[in-house]
Amino acid sequence: MGLVIVNEISKLREIITEHKRNGKSIALVPTMGCLHDGHKSLMQKAHSIADITVASVFVNPIQFCPGEDYDKYPRTLDSDKLVAESAGVDIIFAPSVNEMYPDLQKFSDLTMVAPPYELTDIMCGKSRVGHFDGVETVVTKLFNIVQPDFACFGMKDIQQLFLIKKMVKDLNFPIEIIPCPLVREDSGLALSSRNKYLTEEQKKIALSLSKALFAIRGMYDAGVKETKKMFDTGLTNLDKNVELEYLEFVSFDTFKPVEFVGEATICALAARVGGVRLIDNIVLEV
Ligand code: PAJ
Repeated sequence: MGLVIVNEISKLREIITEHKRNGKSIALVPTMGCLHDGHKSLMQKAHSIADITVASVFVNPIQFCPGEDYDKYPRTLDSDKLVAESAGVDIIFAPSVNEMYPDLQKFSDLTMVAPPYELTDIMCGKSRVGHFDGVETVVTKLFNIVQPDFACFGMKDIQQLFLIKKMVKDLNFPIEIIPCPLVREDSGLALSSRNKYLTEEQKKIALSLSKALFAIRGMYDAGVKETKKMFDTGLTNLDKNVELEYLEFVSFDTFKPVEFVGEATICALAARVGGVRLIDNIVLEV
């Protein structure tokens, strides 16, 4: 079977129902398109664990805050098809905004799924108010439409992954969430669809984000456990043209800040380079 592009929910449901009738397992990879090797690694993982791989490509308007890049977010379905096909994807689900949100006048018209405030008033959620409500709502819709057995999410968006895992547990979705490792360029820069906005000069500046995280990782490997010391090292490694939004050490079990690195600790950051918002993180202890 070659790659199939489906735009309508009803059509996708028909195809999925048929696969389920034949006892096939299904893995979903939700994306906003502009696919790169990070997305591809999720698709390859999905393909390796399930009979049928569905990738959604949908720039979800309700997860963008006012003034963010919704209008200019790159839409590249033609090249996305090639990436998805090479990763073994069977179905791309690429609905229109109207298909996903018919008659939506404003966000307050919609039933939303919202993570707890104390987990969104930190890190990315702090500056992107309402962002994770938009993410959880669209992911819930995709889960209900596709009814996958597995869904793959990247560790690049570590707070998103944590919140999705919690949502699946709290709301009893019968879906196994598969966390997938963060993929970087050889230079160290974390792959992101938003890297497309960077000039070559800005890319060089952005490299200091991963450099800072690698320096922190190096300190930890050398025996330092105190996060304050690692924080200071992180700052000194950042290019002066980086506008840091946050650099945090949190437990991956609770997403609470940690003073000393213990079990399941990650160091995550968000920053702007030439106005482009970038995120990155590194696992210190699993
Ligand atoms: P998007 O940014 O397109 O990312 C889709 C998936 O790819 C996410 O799970 C993300 O963590 C993963 N990903 C992106 N860059 C990665 C990298 N360098 N390495 C590994 N994984 C990477 O995240 C979203 O879209 C949206 O919020 C979505 C979940 C689709 C809901 O709209």
